[in-house]
Order: sequence, then C-alpha cells, then structure tokens
Amino acid sequence: MNVLRIMALWVSTAARATPLLTVVMMITTVCSAVLSPLSVYGVKMTVDAVAQHHSVWPGIAFGGGALLVSALAGSVAGPIGDTVDERVARYVHNDLIRLTAEVPSIAHHEHPAMADRLSLVERDAWELGGIWRLLSTLGAVSGTVTVIGMLWSVSPAMIGLLAAALVPSAIYALGLHKRNALWRTSERFRRLGSKINDALLEPRQGVEVRCFGLSPALLGVADEALQTRNRPVLATTRRFSIYTALGWVFFGAVYSAAVVWVFHRVRLGENTLGDLSLLLLIGPQVSTTASAISSNIGEIMSSVQVFGRYQWLRDYAAAHDWADSVAMPPDRLVEGIRFDHVDFTYPSLDADFEEPSHTEFTAPTEPGRQSLTDINLHLPAGRTVAFVGENGAGKSTLVKLLARLYDPTAGAVLVDGVPMTALDPAAWRERMSAGFQDFASLEFLAIDSVGVGDVTERDELRVTQAVTAGQADPVVADLPAGLQTQLGATFEGGVGLSGGQWQRLALARAFMRRRPLLMLLDEPTAALDPEAEQAIYEQYGAVARELAHTTGAVTVLVSHRFSTVRMADLIIVVADGRITEQGSHAELLRAGGRYAELFEMQARAYR
Ligand SMILES: Nc1ncnc2c1ncn2[C@@H]1O[C@H](COP(=O)(O)OP(=O)(O)O)[C@@H](O)[C@H]1O
Ligand SMILES: [Mg+2]
Repeated sequence: MNVLRIMALWVSTAARATPLLTVVMMITTVCSAVLSPLSVYGVKMTVDAVAQHHSVWPGIAFGGGALLVSALAGSVAGPIGDTVDERVARYVHNDLIRLTAEVPSIAHHEHPAMADRLSLVERDAWELGGIWRLLSTLGAVSGTVTVIGMLWSVSPAMIGLLAAALVPSAIYALGLHKRNALWRTSERFRRLGSKINDALLEPRQGVEVRCFGLSPALLGVADEALQTRNRPVLATTRRFSIYTALGWVFFGAVYSAAVVWVFHRVRLGENTLGDLSLLLLIGPQVSTTASAISSNIGEIMSSVQVFGRYQWLRDYAAAHDWADSVAMPPDRLVEGIRFDHVDFTYPSLDADFEEPSHTEFTAPTEPGRQSLTDINLHLPAGRTVAFVGENGAGKSTLVKLLARLYDPTAGAVLVDGVPMTALDPAAWRERMSAGFQDFASLEFLAIDSVGVGDVTERDELRVTQAVTAGQADPVVADLPAGLQTQLGATFEGGVGLSGGQWQRLALARAFMRRRPLLMLLDEPTAALDPEAEQAIYEQYGAVARELAHTTGAVTVLVSHRFSTVRMADLIIVVADGRITEQGSHAELLRAGGRYAELFEMQARAYR
C-alpha cells in the first residue's frame, strides 16, 4: 500500500517536473533495450541463410536495422535521461527546502531522529533521479523478454542460463542493499563529521578555532566519526565482491556446459549452426540483462526509501502546517496576552514527541526535563514587561512561545482571550517585531538586510526610519555606499561588520513593522555597551508608548542590566522554569526577595 503511494508520488513528481521529456525518455529507453538483443537474432538468421544457401540480405537488414535504431535510441536516451534526472532532482530539492523552511514551528530542527531524516532526504535529493531508474527498469524488463525469447528459440532449457546469471547479480544487489542500510543507520556520524568540518571552515568560529588550537582535535573527531561510518560499509563491499566473483565463476561454468551441449546437438542436427552462433554471441547479453534486473531491483528499493522519506516530509509538513489556525489577530490589543497553566518541554528532550512513522532511526531519548512549568501570567496591553532571571531560567523559551515558534506542551497562551494556537501563524508574525540575542547576520545589501524586517515595505524612506529608530545611523554612515553597500567581507566589494554593528542592524530590522501588537527584545543589545543599550531602550520606550496608544502593543524585554529592566511597567522573575516574583521595580524592591538581592548586587558593583 505504502509502496504504491510512493510509486505514485514518484511518477507524479517526474510528470510535474518535466512531463514531455518523461514520455520521450520512456519510449527511447524501451526501444533501445528491446532492439539491442534482437540484432543478435539477425546474425543467427544470416548464418542459417549461408548454411542453407538462402539469401543473406533479410538477416543482415534485420540485424543491422535493429542495431542502428537501438544505438540511436540509446544515444538519445542517455542525455535526455540526464536532463530528466537533473530536473527531477532540482524539483525535489527545492520542494524539500520549501517544505522544511515553511513548517511554521521550528520543532523539527531540534529532534535528533528528525534531523537525521532531513539531512538524508536533502542529500539524497541530488542523487534521486528516481524516474530514470524506473524507466531503465522498463528497459531491463523488455530487454529480458527479448533475451528469453531468443534463448527459447535455441532450446527451452537455455532459459536456465539466465537463471544462472541471476545468481551473481542477485548477490551483488544484496550487497548494495546491505550497504544502503548501513549508510542510513549511521547518518548521525555523517552529520557530526560535516558539522565539525563546517565549524572549522566557518569564519565566525575562526577566531576561537585558532586561539584554542582546536583544529587538530576537531579534525580527529570528525575523521573518527566518518570512519565509524565508513568502516562497516567497506567491509561489506569487500565481502560481497568476493561472493559476486564466485557467482560469475559459477555462471561461466554453466555457460560453457551449455555451449558444449548445443555444439553436440548441432552435430546431431537438432540445432542449426545459427543457433550455436546466437548462443555464443548472446552470452554477454545474458549477463548484462541479469545484472540490469538485479541492480534495478536494488536501485528501486533504495529509491523507494528515498521517496519514502520525501513522502514522510510531505506528510509531516502537511500535518504541521497549522492550517487549522486561521483566526486573524485583533487589530489592537485590549486585554493583553495571558499564559494559562503553560508547561513546555523542548522536542529533543520530550520522550513523547511525535516520532516519524516507520522509524528507521532510534533516537536516544533520555527522560526529558521540562523547561517551563505551570506558567500563569498576564502581560497587559500597552505595557512593557521585563523577564529577568539567571541563564537557563526559561526567559527565551517564554519569548519563543510568544512568537509561536513552538506550541506549549500543556496549557495555552491567549491573545485577548483567543488561544494563540487558533491564530494564523503568518498573520501573527506579521503583527510582531523581534530582536534576538542570536540575531541573524544577513549578508545582503544593507537596505535589504534591514528591509527584510517587513518584506512588503522595502523602500528607502521606511528603511531609513527603521535605521534611525534602531540607532543604527552611525553604522550606515560608515558604509561606503550607504544603504546600497553589500555586507559581508567574503563577498566581492562587501564590508565586514563587528558584532555590535550587526546587532544594531538587527535592531533596525525589528523596527520595520509598522503596527505590531507585540515587540520581543530578547537581549538584543548584549553586544553593545551599557550607554548604547540605555540609548536604545529609551528609543524603544518612546516607540512602545506610541504603540500602546495605536495598537495596545505589549513590549517584552529580556536584559541582564537593571538600568534597563527597571524601566519596565511589570517585571517578571523567572527561576528554573517557574515564575517566582512579579511586580513593578518599586514593589519588588520593597518585597525584598531575589530581585531586590540581585539589584543590590549589581548596583554595588557599579558604585
Ligand atoms: N533548543 C533547545 N533544546 C533543548 N533544550 C533547550 C533548548 N533551548 C533551551 N533549552 C533549555 O531550556 C531551559 C531554558 O532555556 P532558555 O529559555 O534559553 O533560558 P534563558 O532564561 O537563559 O533564556 C534551559 O535549561 C535550556 O538548557
Ligand atoms: Mg535567553
């Protein structure tokens, strides 16, 4: 059942990627496969004609014609096959990136078994060429029918030759299958190896790699990972090539016996001389046909697996497109955003996380740790709310839930009373602006690097306003061609920026949205000095007050600097995935809890 669905996907993919070429490909492949063995039959006709003193021309015409047409069809099929391959692979590859990047949650990036699958599908897409294999199978099948017919014409017993040739071919195909299975189960070693190699080549990590002298150690780990992956595969290859060779020795013996037997029958007059020459000529055809059959079976099996994973990704994307979430966010917030008994566990830690079906991989799942427990919160409309707490307390996780990068494991986040899970994720994100600590350094033209903050409004005026609001004017002023400068030192004529400069551009990006309901600032100023942070938050305060009037927007900020935090209307103290204190700066100081303690500590340090 599953296999049928996968086959259907296979054919429909090729038909969508390149319909006309697929048909041409099918015809030429079959022609070439059927006619090539038939040319041998022409030789037999000719030899018999000589022996019986008939005209040799029909035999020559038949053999020559078959050879010519088959060669023509074959030489057309090759390049067309390559084109079909390339188109199908490109189509699947783009579809894959699209499916992966457009799933609205990021959960699938963070589960080991999922990551293995994604990396496998992505890599296999380029070697997919699925339809080419399906068609060459058609060719192999029709070629086999022709070969059987001709062997039969010598003697029905000769079919045994094909059976004998299938022995080594089947062994070979089994070996291929074993190797594929090994590749699949060791995908995580490949991911590890290539992650490390990427890290060694990535300019971002370049400084640390050199300062800590990491290169030899990391290369060693990467090499070991790849070897762990390769060793069993190489051993299997060696073992099976010996078995295959023995199989061919067996076929050779059977074939020799058949030739001797037919020679004997020619002398008895039970076979013609033409039969004998047909048998002599067809030997190589029989073995290629047998190899074609078994390697096709092997390749089809692995293509079915590749397409199976592709199908899995399509199913996953379809099941997680949050298509039921269609409600539009309100035009303006009245009540605000509430967390109602929210628990959250990251997918990589969640033992119950929905695993891909027909699991090929066993992900090592340890009993997970909840990152948020029973969160109850009210973020009032029009107010600025600060999350404070130690590293790993759960602040960023709260922010990610507000951006709906994940759904809560239990409980609900409510936007003016409407569960966030009911809101169209794209529409919600359009009404949200965000600056993160691990912001993206988008190496585009400066105008685009900022302008993508709102792809519907990439005009120079709007971007300039956002740059000013994000206090990135000095950065842009330093660029040789202003907003039209290419960013990123690795590009021709590109300009490299410091961490702080990138961060200012990321902040400007966050100011692109005109009417946000929610502004998220998760330590977006960590790379800046305290004066710069102060200036930026004053700017933010002005924007937030303005938005409070127009859209009732909630501003959420995460910072370790109390000078920033104390500006917030409401301060939430997070510890170990729970809310421990909340109130205004003055209230929390009066309460004399953890907040007061930390504030005192930082204030003393600055005195
Ligand atoms: N992608 C992730 N996968 C698994 N665990 C995570 C992930 N991100 C964060 N965590 C864990 O969740 C907890 C809260 O992290 P986070 O919200 O980032 O803390 P912070 O308060 O420093 O922003 C930490 O224990 C952290 O290890
Ligand atoms: Mg954080």
